[in-house]
Amino acid sequence: MSRELFPILSGAEGRVKCGNTQPDPASGFDAEGKPFYIETFGCQMNVHDSEKVAGVLMARGYRPVQTPEDADIIFYNTCSIREKAAQKVFSRLGAFRKRGGGERKVFGVLGCVAQQEAENIFERAPHVSLVCGSASYPKLPELLEELEAGHKRVTGLGLDTEDCFETEMTRRDNRFRAYITIIEGCDKACSYCVVPVTRGAERSRPADKILAEALRLANEGFTEIQFLGQTVNSYRDPSPLRMSFAELLSRMAEVPGVRRVRFTTSHPRDFTKEIVDAIDSHPALCDQIHLPAQSGSNAVLKRMLRTYTREEYLEKIHYIRNAMRDISISTDIIVGFCNETLDDFEQTLSLLDEVGYDQVFSFKYSPRPRTAAGHYEDSVPEEEKGRRLLILQDKQREIQIKRNRGCLGQEYEVLVEGFHPKLGQAVGRTSSNRIINFPGEPSWVGSYMTAKVTASGPNSLVGQRVTEDAGGSAKEWKF
Ligand code: SAH
Ligand code: SF4
Ligand code: F3S
Repeated sequence: MSRELFPILSGAEGRVKCGNTQPDPASGFDAEGKPFYIETFGCQMNVHDSEKVAGVLMARGYRPVQTPEDADIIFYNTCSIREKAAQKVFSRLGAFRKRGGGERKVFGVLGCVAQQEAENIFERAPHVSLVCGSASYPKLPELLEELEAGHKRVTGLGLDTEDCFETEMTRRDNRFRAYITIIEGCDKACSYCVVPVTRGAERSRPADKILAEALRLANEGFTEIQFLGQTVNSYRDPSPLRMSFAELLSRMAEVPGVRRVRFTTSHPRDFTKEIVDAIDSHPALCDQIHLPAQSGSNAVLKRMLRTYTREEYLEKIHYIRNAMRDISISTDIIVGFCNETLDDFEQTLSLLDEVGYDQVFSFKYSPRPRTAAGHYEDSVPEEEKGRRLLILQDKQREIQIKRNRGCLGQEYEVLVEGFHPKLGQAVGRTSSNRIINFPGEPSWVGSYMTAKVTASGPNSLVGQRVTEDAGGSAKEWKF
């Protein structure tokens, strides 16, 4: 499976089904082993965690399957960033119940809802027998054994587990892009956010172990490495090397075989000019930065406890805009946060104009339990949040149309990540994270090619592979 739903740690309310990981006989895989199925919600950290869960289980002889119907054990790896995301798991569990046939199956809830709701999940969904948060996945085989031994309900909810980075057994779904979590948890305590509760305190992985894993992955044929962390640039190397995040990026860019390095998500407070300098010095570091602003209003930023002002944020944007490379910038925005006035909202719109983002992930504020803002009045009515969201998205669409138009006639190196059989189109991704669709062949998937942009739209580009006789006239892509 090589499906990517969320280009950033946005915790979008989508899902990834995991089940076609190919068994490796050397892993002790047992074709007769108990079948399991994992459905993943939320951000890339969850997607990667599911790869770790699959690896841990397959190493013990469990067998991944494609559908929940074929599985004896069904895991939902959950997201609780917004209410709608958290509800998904309960509707999934309820739907299975109603359809019937789930009586003999084991249902396990993993991830951020598991950590947040803990034993309450057993009350809301009595057919669930396992609840386990992300720091406790190495314990999953033990928990399953306890269930087999007759325990009715088991939990793994410790957040102090040291070995949550151990990835020896990870079964990666993508053949050319490998995720590496370099920092877990979050110490920032933004007032609206559940992540510090669901993933605990910040813990960084030693730089030597990260580099060793990258070398191994490059030898296995992965050409793109994506560093993950909720505050990836707050990385603090606990090894004697004491490498800064920018140094780690530079070292990673020099690993033989690694052609692209991405990282997400950066927190503005810890964003330094050294990171931009590293990108300028190393072509393998992608010219793409995701820097969530959340709001353009200082009053709102203060209530969000984001620890920076609009002016400080813009100073970081200037580092990026002053780089030698043309680095694309994306962001996350929350609309309708407690007491957000129309004037506050206007300031967010003006931030969009001032920065000229290449992509914006925008969300209506959703009050969450166990957060500081959960106690504030959710003062902006739902309808008004929806109105502001649409205005913001319309504005950003116009900005993207203009920015993408600037790509017309340009040539970009793309990694071909997919192929649309019906359209006969290869799907390439540029270093700056733009998608270029161009006529191609299925066998191109995984290769690097040059494509020339011949048409542009708000969300993607159309092009031609550059060969000796390639041409194509530039035109606007109409929708
Ligand atoms: N660590 C990242 C964000 C991770 S969560 C950062 O600091 O930027 C991904 C995004 O979800 C956030 O950037 C924010 O825009 C959104 N989000 C988080 N909590 C939310 C909430 N309670 N309601 C609406 N959106 C939220
Ligand atoms: Fe949440 Fe803020 Fe931490 Fe990001 S930095 S994960 S928004 S608390
Ligand atoms: Fe990710 Fe959602 Fe958890 S965004 S960290 S899966 S709350």
